[in-house]
Amino acid sequence: MTEAILLVGGKGTRLRPLTVHTPKPMVPAAGVPFLTHQLARARAAGVEHIVLATSYLAEVFEPYFGDGSELGLHLEYVTEDEPLGTGGAIRNVASRLRSGPDEPVLIFNGDILTGLDIEALVSTHRSSGADVSLHLTRVEDPRAFGLVPTDSTGRVTAFLEKPQTPEEIVTDQINAGAYVFRRSVIDTIPAGRPVSVERETFPGLLSSGAHLQGMVDSTYWLDLGTPQAFVRGSADLVMGRAPSPAVPGRCGDRLVLPTASVATDAKLTGGTVVGDGAVVGEGARIDGSAVLTGAVIGAGAVISDSLIGAGARIGDRTVVSGAVVGDGATVGADNELQDGVRVWCGASIPDAAIRFSSDQ
Ligand code: GDD
Ligand code: MG
Repeated sequence: MTEAILLVGGKGTRLRPLTVHTPKPMVPAAGVPFLTHQLARARAAGVEHIVLATSYLAEVFEPYFGDGSELGLHLEYVTEDEPLGTGGAIRNVASRLRSGPDEPVLIFNGDILTGLDIEALVSTHRSSGADVSLHLTRVEDPRAFGLVPTDSTGRVTAFLEKPQTPEEIVTDQINAGAYVFRRSVIDTIPAGRPVSVERETFPGLLSSGAHLQGMVDSTYWLDLGTPQAFVRGSADLVMGRAPSPAVPGRCGDRLVLPTASVATDAKLTGGTVVGDGAVVGEGARIDGSAVLTGAVIGAGAVISDSLIGAGARIGDRTVVSGAVVGDGATVGADNELQDGVRVWCGASIPDAAIRFSSDQ
């Protein structure tokens, strides 16, 4: 097992207030661009060659990761002229693969944080003789995912992407976004046009009698599709709940990067990360949050479950909970920002301008 394809095409629009200039895979989670964790985990499972299939802001990946040698990887980049969808993106990089027709190729969605045992997925694939093997996980509400019912042997019986009706919700097993494809199956995906692996390739393979094997694995799994999930994922990496060899430091309640400056009486808990050059003022309390490079948190500020963008400034005594504050934004002193608030990059909120608490 030596190679993998990583799909990093989506625009990540839901993180948009923070990421006008940074695609989601490059937003730091536990101190390093999120993509680093996926690359490092693949490397630790023995993958040596990874092709990044990208369609958006691709030019930021290569300057950062280069040829991958720092991670012990050989990395290649392929950029689509127009987004080709998940299946089209896979097909589009087929010429870069080195595996023989019967060899397994790993494919990962680029927005998943998981403790998946990658080697176990590959050995399930080999022992079952499947054409494609899929990591499945169980979720309470499967509607935002691909539903994947299996028979008693784990063989996939259907693939229902984003079910619309209650009748379609036939299982709580969902596609967790990690696959092993037999190399020759990749070559059967039509080239040169958009293809959804979920809506076209998997259902097509099933109706032609191909063998798709599911491996249900209830390890840590999180889709980082929303800012709240991203913040949660970063905190879980810091605390070691989500395993990654790329966390730059020891796992624990907090991660303070070397050039950050944190007042001695500030309290950092719940997997908070404070990025390089960031400053945390006296008496500030930060829980379960990511404070990115160069951000400044004022004295007595109280931050929880929030993403504070690079170079953003949070004023003294300001309360920020469940919010995203974009890169370079300024929130003045004595404000109160609550769940779901997004402050756009570079925006400025004056002192004592916003509160959520009641008048009582
Ligand atoms: N290169 C490229 N080009 N990548 C793409 C494209 C594209 O046109 N479209 C999507 N991707 C990448 C995304 O960046 C992401 O990493 C992955 O493919 C999946 O796309 P999403 O847009 O995030 O899909 P989703 O989250 O709604 O659903 C997918 O993931 C679920 C698990 O989180 C599906 O695979 C579901 O079946 C699955 O349950
Ligand atoms: Mg997704």
